[in-house]
Amino acid sequence: MSYHSEPHDFTDKRTGYEQLAAQLRGLLEGETDPIANAANTAALIFNALPEVSWAGFYFLREGELIVGPFQGKPACVRIALGHGVCGTAAAKRETLLVPDVSAFPGHIACDAASQSEVVVPLIAAGQLVGVLDLDSTRLARFDEVDARGLEQLATLFVQASRIV
Ligand code: SME
Repeated sequence: MSYHSEPHDFTDKRTGYEQLAAQLRGLLEGETDPIANAANTAALIFNALPEVSWAGFYFLREGELIVGPFQGKPACVRIALGHGVCGTAAAKRETLLVPDVSAFPGHIACDAASQSEVVVPLIAAGQLVGVLDLDSTRLARFDEVDARGLEQLATLFVQASRIV
């Protein structure tokens, strides 16, 4: 198989996410190591999706979120549950779409250029194990189609990986 990550045509976002999901299935097939799988998932998403400035993982370790494999600029390492967009999505176990991060109370600005964000909680065997986080320098970059598409990608990552 090819490990090359093609930029996708996201003019039709649903089709774009379907293609990306098929590509991720292939990329994760036969591999259960969570770091390897998180690294390849982050790289695939970052290279395939337009207008994304950061894409990656935070994993729950001893009650706080710690940055995992990602693509983009260096990021904040530790985020307490309930803090920032990531910690709030994790605490609520809900996907959070934030069209304007400056309007989100407690947003943690790892990159001052970031303007919008989406965070998907990762649930494995009923337990919160971390989050998938994407940032953009464009306001309102992410919508419900992105949220559902990214939830599917996050599920594929969790199912393939031996996390808990
Ligand atoms: N903005 C996030 C912090 C993580 S970075 O965006 C990579 C937050 O508010 O939780």
